Amino acid sequence: MVSTKKQIKSLESWGKEEELIATYIVNKFQGKSLKILEAGCGTKWDQAELLSEIDYTLTGIDLDAQALDFRKNNLKDLDETICGDLRKIDFLKAEFDVIFNSFVLEHIDGAEEILQNFDKWLKPGGLIILRIPDPATVYGFFSKVTPFWAHGLYAKYFKELGKPGHTPYPTEFDEVVSQAGIRKFCSEQNWTIREEIINGYYHQESLYSAASKMSKAISFLTFNKLQDTHTNLLYILEKN
Ligand SMILES: C[S@@+](CC[C@H](N)C(=O)[O-])C[C@H]1O[C@@H](n2cnc3c(N)ncnc32)[C@H](O)[C@@H]1O
Repeated sequence: MVSTKKQIKSLESWGKEEELIATYIVNKFQGKSLKILEAGCGTKWDQAELLSEIDYTLTGIDLDAQALDFRKNNLKDLDETICGDLRKIDFLKAEFDVIFNSFVLEHIDGAEEILQNFDKWLKPGGLIILRIPDPATVYGFFSKVTPFWAHGLYAKYFKELGKPGHTPYPTEFDEVVSQAGIRKFCSEQNWTIREEIINGYYHQESLYSAASKMSKAISFLTFNKLQDTHTNLLYILEKN
């Protein structure tokens, strides 16, 4: 198991993560007109306001037609919506400047195939914004090993189950969906890891205080092999 404790940056809120992503995009592409793909777009995207000074078109693709309908009819923030599978869809080579892929890969049997597709669809110098749960943490480990019905219970008590796009999705956690897996893929693919960040604010959220205490206890019992410092990994990756 790879230790993430010392090497990587931690941010203190979701808002700071979103700001960091937006700042990175604005600084890198200032003055250009961008094509952005939200791969596995679900029901929300927190970048619209932050990227308002940039000229871009946003394409959303997802398997979940209900989630896409919500985006189309309520948020109205997508220029193009595609109901389809990221493993099967065929975009043009070098079509996009930025690909967002947030909490999707852990649900996919064939995650590496999708990363290969991103490589094809991105322009050289393009960015991939990737978020995954970290399987080396207590949270990530349990989302990997618990049966699907348990995710339903979690969603019922902690999330907005029943609303479009909020059904729990089964988890697969292919080997590439981990810190070691992403690092290996990037070195083989010649992608540069521009940022590797953990959500250090996990323990501060009061809603999750019971879960947070339990997570600390489990981490202690596993002699810190399962970490309780965070739940997720955020990557900003650049195609060379
Ligand atoms: C946990 S949700 C995340 C949604 C959104 N990216 C977010 O961060 O809020 C996972 C999304 O991935 C989509 N998804 C799962 N497998 C997919 C696939 N093979 N192709 C396209 N979308 C997929 C699901 O339908 C779901 O909307």
